[in-house]
Amino acid sequence: MDSQPDLRFLVTPAAAGVGLRGRLRVPGDKSISHRAIMLAAIATGETRIEGFLEGADALATLRAFRRLGVAITGPDAGLVLVQGVGLSGLRAPDGPLDMGNSGTSMRLLAGLLAGQSFATTLIGDESLSRRPMRRVTEPLALMGARIETNAAGTAPLHILPTAGLQGIEYRMPVASAQVKSSLLLAGLCAAGETCVTEPAPTRDHTERMLTALGYPVRRTGPRVCLTGAGSGGGQLTGGRIAVPADLSSAAFFLVGASIAAGSDLTLTGVGINPTRLGVIDILRAMGADIAVLDERLAGAEPVADLRVRAAPLKGIRIPVEQVPLAIDEFPAIFIAAACATGETVLTGAEELRVKESDRIAVMAAGLSTLGIEAEPRPDGIRIVGGSLGSGTVAAHGDHRIAMSFAIAGLRASGPIEIRDCANVETSFPGFARLAGSVGLGIEELGG
Ligand code: S3P
Repeated sequence: MDSQPDLRFLVTPAAAGVGLRGRLRVPGDKSISHRAIMLAAIATGETRIEGFLEGADALATLRAFRRLGVAITGPDAGLVLVQGVGLSGLRAPDGPLDMGNSGTSMRLLAGLLAGQSFATTLIGDESLSRRPMRRVTEPLALMGARIETNAAGTAPLHILPTAGLQGIEYRMPVASAQVKSSLLLAGLCAAGETCVTEPAPTRDHTERMLTALGYPVRRTGPRVCLTGAGSGGGQLTGGRIAVPADLSSAAFFLVGASIAAGSDLTLTGVGINPTRLGVIDILRAMGADIAVLDERLAGAEPVADLRVRAAPLKGIRIPVEQVPLAIDEFPAIFIAAACATGETVLTGAEELRVKESDRIAVMAAGLSTLGIEAEPRPDGIRIVGGSLGSGTVAAHGDHRIAMSFAIAGLRASGPIEIRDCANVETSFPGFARLAGSVGLGIEELGG
C-alpha cells in the first residue's frame, strides 16, 4: 500500500484528570497473523484462524498466498479459513507479489519461496524497497537459493527456481525473528537439518506455531533446529489458530494510560509471549502501574488482560537485553520517556534505523518539534523528560510513529497534528475510532 501523505491525525489534549478509561480489545497480532496464513497454506487440510488482523500487512500475505494457488475464505470478522496445499502444492503466481509496507511478508516469503520449483518476484512500497534484504538473501544463498536483489541489496527480490535447498547451520549477526523465521521456513523444504542460533532471544511465534501444527522444532538455548520434510523432519497438519490481541498495538494504550492522569484502562486478550514482553518490563521499570490479569493460553500462545493506571514515570537506562524484546514498541516508549522525570537512554538499538522509517531520527525530530530534548545517537537516543508542547509532526508513513504521537496528545499543552498517517492501517485498522472510544481526542483529516 502506498502511503497517502494527506491522511492526518489531529489530537487534542485530554481534559485534566479524565485520561483513558474502560476496556478494549486491540486487533490481532500482526506477527502471528502472517505466520498463521503462511503455515496454514503449506499444511495439509483446513486451518481455521480466529482473531486474524485485518490490516494491510497481514492482508498482503493473505493475497500473496491466494495468488500462489491457495484457497482462502475471509477474513470475516477475524475469521479466515485456509485450505492447505502442502509443502509442494504452491503454484507459480501470474506476476509479482506485492508485499506493500510489510517487511515480515517479504522476508518470510523469501525463505518459503526460495525452495520452490518456480520463480517469484516480491515487490514492496517505497519504504519496504529501501529496507535491507541481504540479511535473508545471503544465508538463503548458503542454502542454495538463487535470489537477485538490486545493487543495494534491496527489493524487488527475484527468487529463481532451484533444484533443491540444503540445510545449514547459521549464526545470525543481528537478533532478528524475521531472519530466523525465513531460514526455518526455507529449512522445511531443504535436505537435512537447518539450525539458527540467535545472538539474543527474538519472538518465537514461528517455532510455537510449527510445533502446534505438528512439525517438530528443537531448541537448545539460543539454537533452534528443524529437519526438512523431505528428510523425514515431520509434517504440517492444519488445525485451529487463535490469534491474540497484539501487544505491539496495546503498547500505545499502555503508554497513553500511564501518562494521562485519571486513566484506568483494561486491554483484553493480549498476547504475553515472553519474547515480546520488553515493553511491559521497561514501562514498569519507569514506574508504570500495569497488572497482568487472568493469564491463560490461546492455542500455542499465552494471553492475559492488562490493566493499566496512570502513574508518575521516571527516566531509566534501558537494559540492552530488552531491545529485541521491545523492538517495535520504542516509538511509544519514547513518548513515555518524554513524559517521565529525568533522562532515558537507549543504546544497542541501531535496528530502529531500518524499520518502516528511521525511527530514531523521525522520533527525535518530532519530539524536538514538541519541545522535548531528544538527542539521536547512532544506536539509540537520549530523551530528557519535560513538557510536551503542541505542533505539527511528520510520521513519515510509519504506522507506529503516527500512533505514538497521537498518544502524546494526552499530555501535550495544545493540539498536535500528525502528517502521513495512512499506514496506521497496516497494523491497526480502526485505531482512531478505538482510541477515541476510551477517551483520546482524535480526529482524522484528509485521506
Ligand atoms: C517481526 C520481527 C521484528 C519486528 C517486526 C515483526 C516478525 O523484526 O520488528 O515488526 O514478525 O518476525 P526483526 O525480526 O527484523 O527485528
